[in-house]
Amino acid sequence: MTEAPVPDPTEQERRAAEQLFGERLPLAEGFVRHLCTTGIDHGLLGPREVPRMWSRHVLNCAVLAPELPEGGDVADVGSGAGLPGLALAIARPDVRMSLIEPMERRVDWLSEVVADLGLDNVDIIRGRAEDVTDEVMADVVTARAVSALKKLVPLTAPLLADDGQLLLIKGRSAAEEIETAAKAIRRFKLRAPAVELLGEDLLEEPTTVVRIRRVPASDS
Ligand SMILES: C[S@@+](CC[C@H](N)C(=O)[O-])C[C@H]1O[C@@H](n2cnc3c(N)ncnc32)[C@H](O)[C@@H]1O
Repeated sequence: MTEAPVPDPTEQERRAAEQLFGERLPLAEGFVRHLCTTGIDHGLLGPREVPRMWSRHVLNCAVLAPELPEGGDVADVGSGAGLPGLALAIARPDVRMSLIEPMERRVDWLSEVVADLGLDNVDIIRGRAEDVTDEVMADVVTARAVSALKKLVPLTAPLLADDGQLLLIKGRSAAEEIETAAKAIRRFKLRAPAVELLGEDLLEEPTTVVRIRRVPASDS
């Protein structure tokens, strides 16, 4: 078992966590504890991530929470260590979250964490996104660090409900990736993507998100 200490949030991180998780902050702390211990033991994240677990991982993902529709269905593709899926399921108990992840070891860990935290708004689907299109229809599809947009759009867009949207966490290459993905975006009848910075008022480094809405069938 890892000896890595679980990091206390800095003052700024605590303020952001209180705002994003509200009364479910103890669950977010439990998630961070898992990431820093069992998550590292299972090889989901490297030990060097421990000091930045709040800022770079959990809060960086949780800033998407206010963007989710009330009571909506959300699917997180390539959930891995539950990022952003579990951070969002904790912050927004009103949404139903489906974590889509093909790797058995990761699915086992996600199941352990969901059971340990007692989260009742999470379904874990073991499979590749392209193989579960019959099972999932989401108002919002999220993904972080799964692939470049050109490949990610064909993986995520088929999971969207008619007026749904993709919220894809990206880095500095977002604009470049959008150019390369233009053909896929047209093929899946999506609107023009927008690059947005989320959490500017909460985080030292806000999160870059590519938002892409689906064109409803009635408009196409
Ligand atoms: C680099 S990890 C990122 C994990 C997590 N989203 C994060 O940000 O820490 C990429 C994850 O995507 C998953 N993945 C790869 N291809 C996939 C596919 N076609 N459908 C669903 N998940 C996929 C992998 O198994 C892996 O867990």
